[in-house]
Amino acid sequence: ATGLVVAIDGPSGSGKSSTSRGVAVRLGLRYLDTGAMFRAMTWWMLRQGVDVHDAAAVAARVGEPEIVSGTDPSAPTITVDGTDVATAIRGEDVTGAVSPVSVVPEVRARLLQLQRAVIAAAPGGIVVEGRDIGSVVAPDAPVKVYLTADPAARALRRAAEEGGSDVSATQESLLARDKIDSGRATAPLVMADGAVHIDTTPFTLDEVIGLVVALVEAVE
Ligand code: C5P
Repeated sequence: ATGLVVAIDGPSGSGKSSTSRGVAVRLGLRYLDTGAMFRAMTWWMLRQGVDVHDAAAVAARVGEPEIVSGTDPSAPTITVDGTDVATAIRGEDVTGAVSPVSVVPEVRARLLQLQRAVIAAAPGGIVVEGRDIGSVVAPDAPVKVYLTADPAARALRRAAEEGGSDVSATQESLLARDKIDSGRATAPLVMADGAVHIDTTPFTLDEVIGLVVALVEAVE
């Protein structure tokens, strides 16, 4: 299809975002955070007062918001109808509602189109992170990585990112999202065929970035 695609999947708190951005910066590639797109869609649904647990209600509105993702790995941006939502989509309300919204097939179909368009517009190559990148969004990606980490390590990282949230509550919320993300019928979180599994628990961020960069260099 286009240039080099590096697909990075895994559960939240596995180090996906920091790793993906670091790899893109080091290799001079573009970067797409697909989780941010699902969060942006969820933010919009909540603002509209749509019941996020009513799949038919969500599906009916899915075409309305215009979601635009920037692809600079050193300054990722995301807007909905022109409004910068980068901070708002990290709020607890969105985090608590994003998995049920992401289950809805119409949501996935709409965002899949947007994701493929962003990938096609990055002919120099792009690092794409999410849950279904290696399996659905870019199954032909020459480099696929599946990142995991111990639940306790994931909760510690995420709680620190969220400015010191309670670690055990964070772990509970992570595991609840994992369960929905892995159990859904459409594009569940799975390790894609051909993916390299890296358990990041014992490594520093720089070490994980180095491992992924080495994988990319091996296919070039
Ligand atoms: O990566 P992040 O934690 O921001 O993703 C938020 C949520 O978006 C995930 O828990 C999942 O429900 C959904 N998601 C998805 N498919 C992707 C990326 C994210 O379903 N490719």
